[in-house]
Amino acid sequence: MFSTKTMFLQILTPILLLLISSSSGEAVKSSENVGVCVSKVGRSHHQPYELEGKLPESADLEFKDLNLCNVFHDKTCCSASLMLSASLALQDLATHGEASKDCLLWFELLECSICHPDVGVQSVPLRICASFCDSVFEACSDAYFSSNTQVIVPCGAGTNCEKASELESNGTAFCEAVGFSVQTADDSVEEPCYGSKRDLVSAVESFEKAVRLQDLKNKRMILNLQICRSVLVFVLAIFVYMWVRQQDMKRDARRLTRNRIRRRF
Ligand SMILES: *[C@@H]1O[C@H](CO)[C@@H](O)[C@H](O)[C@H]1NC(C)=O
Repeated sequence: MFSTKTMFLQILTPILLLLISSSSGEAVKSSENVGVCVSKVGRSHHQPYELEGKLPESADLEFKDLNLCNVFHDKTCCSASLMLSASLALQDLATHGEASKDCLLWFELLECSICHPDVGVQSVPLRICASFCDSVFEACSDAYFSSNTQVIVPCGAGTNCEKASELESNGTAFCEAVGFSVQTADDSVEEPCYGSKRDLVSAVESFEKAVRLQDLKNKRMILNLQICRSVLVFVLAIFVYMWVRQQDMKRDARRLTRNRIRRRF
């Protein structure tokens, strides 16, 4: 099934990634050691940053090879070793979890939250916006997860799995079960959270604007092309007409000369 909504999401998600990478967490500033990586606690399988106490860096080759959290590779506190389990989890989600493309993208965004440059340097614990969790849950509700451990993880080989929608009833519960803290209050309050609704709404608006602009541009281009073609056809027609006229006139002139010569003799 390839619905318009799926297509829309597929186009939209990279834009969301960019927007999230540039705007969420902007309200967060640690008072001391501004700008250095501060390890995040709260998720059972999170290790400390290798760059703890240092400035965020661009991803090294090893991290780039994971092909994960690519939007944050320019500047991040994450390293390949920290994200290895997330990478394996996403592989499981794709193969054993039967996840849709949307689900994979949203789940990757969730897993990559600690790699966001602003999240990396904030001293407060990482919190995921409830609305963001709802989006992940909606995209992943039909994907399979396993709840054998204290947290739920993407379905692995040979494990008992259930659909996310059978394990949890809403996005907040889902994010918490996966091991994240959720900002349950309305996103508009001061508390910063990852993937706020405001980011998403502005992302959608700018996406729609971009599409409208592109539409308008395309229409203008098609119109210009049509005008161009008409002018070209017109000019060509004149040339052909003039050439034919010229040939006629030459023939007439030759006939006239021949007649004159004949008449003379
Ligand atoms: C989400 O689900 C949990 C567990 O089922 C429930 O306790 C909680 O009230 C729900 N939250 C919302 C916002 O519906």
